[in-house]
Amino acid sequence: MSNPAQAHSPERHQTNTGAVIRITTVAAFGGLLFGYDSAVINGAVSSIQSTFDVGPGPLGFAVAAALLGAAVGAFFGSRIADRTGRIPIMKIAALLFLLSAIGCGFTQSIEWLVFWRVVGGIGVGVASVIAPAYIAEVSPAHLRGRLGSLQQMGIVLGIFLSLLIDALLAHWAGGAANELWFGLAAWRWMFLVMAVPAVLYGIGAFLIPESPRYLVSVGRPDEARAVLSRIHGDDAVDARVSKIRSTVDNERKPRFSDLRGSMAGLKPVVWVGIGLAALQQFVGINVIFYYSNVLWESVGFKESDSFTISVATSVVNVAVTIVAIFLVDRIGRRPLLLLGSAGMALSLGVMSVVFATATKVMVDGQLTPELGPVAGPVALIAANLFVVFFGVSWGPLMWVLLGEMFPNRIRGAALAVAGAVQWIANWAVTVSFPSLSNFSLGLTYGIYAFFALVSLVFTIKMVRETNNVELEDMHA
Ligand code: GLC
Repeated sequence: MSNPAQAHSPERHQTNTGAVIRITTVAAFGGLLFGYDSAVINGAVSSIQSTFDVGPGPLGFAVAAALLGAAVGAFFGSRIADRTGRIPIMKIAALLFLLSAIGCGFTQSIEWLVFWRVVGGIGVGVASVIAPAYIAEVSPAHLRGRLGSLQQMGIVLGIFLSLLIDALLAHWAGGAANELWFGLAAWRWMFLVMAVPAVLYGIGAFLIPESPRYLVSVGRPDEARAVLSRIHGDDAVDARVSKIRSTVDNERKPRFSDLRGSMAGLKPVVWVGIGLAALQQFVGINVIFYYSNVLWESVGFKESDSFTISVATSVVNVAVTIVAIFLVDRIGRRPLLLLGSAGMALSLGVMSVVFATATKVMVDGQLTPELGPVAGPVALIAANLFVVFFGVSWGPLMWVLLGEMFPNRIRGAALAVAGAVQWIANWAVTVSFPSLSNFSLGLTYGIYAFFALVSLVFTIKMVRETNNVELEDMHA
């Protein structure tokens, strides 16, 4: 699918890069809220438990419920965006984030907390699919990988910020998240802080133009021309609009039946999207981000060290995302995915062996591996290498590919399905980790390593290169 001739097209000299970066950064801000919202709960969870006197079981369920909200948000958000446009949906997501921040911040019961977490989760789901679609649709082909990776940059910065803010607030409040700071418990501030980026995202959505691909699809070519010339300069705008028009159907709205095809009832490209989405989660990445404190403590690290390790890992994640942004349009999607899969399989394999062979001691009536002076650092290095390999490949690229790999006509419907699968897979990994890891950490990481191997074979067999291909040339 890759056409080397396009790599040298004069287009790259005409692009108004500054404008494109500004526009895509606003959309990527949704990623920051996604990252912040999904990780903020880490610092608040034990205070919530003591404030509302709930057991760890129901609390775990409450935490995970937000992920199912995200599946709902991804599914409906993407479909609604096909009808109303990409921008109104961003405004709705901003509103959901704002309401969730305030609702969680002032909640008086665990039930309302869960409710507002689910509201925020829906916002996360909406933002997660609207950013890839919008960014792919406004970006020139030769920059699309980099600009698409800005969403992941937002996500990892959001994760980092939430960890940092959680720590700072607990510190200012006198050392614990349930102590007061300016009259409110620190954990409440952790949620309230999210109101700031939510408002900024909402304001940003008023300042950026609608997607030209969407505008053509609903029969508003003049507005599409205006946006395209803002992005590409005036040249060849008419040709672009006719090309887009040839790939959409003005006569009727996109439907789910457009996804039907020859491979078990669906078009093969839809299966590729579903596979990418599920595998990105089945390698267990979020176990690192949601449970790392517990993990490192359980195998013998001190509580404060575990916290430092988590922050360090999130910084590593930010750093490798910069590397990904640098590489994605230079060497292409497939080589990065292959490198990432191989590296993840190896590092996860090492973790699995280290945990499986560690001596087990009784902790709280539970046989727990205790890592010695060699195994401890080996596991730590392997875990961070796993984050490096994920962050340079599957982390950003799954989202980039979901935004760009589908033909214009089915993008919304296909993203709805793949996006929802991604969140359900995230939920499945998150809720199964506590019991799986109680049973055996070696086995748990063995399973993630197995899925990393599957992701390698999947990439070899199913994923086609999309680097530098125009969205109009993506065929089902
Ligand atoms: C990707 C994943 C997300 C994960 C993040 C970590 O964006 O989709 O679930 O938390 O990477 O870097």
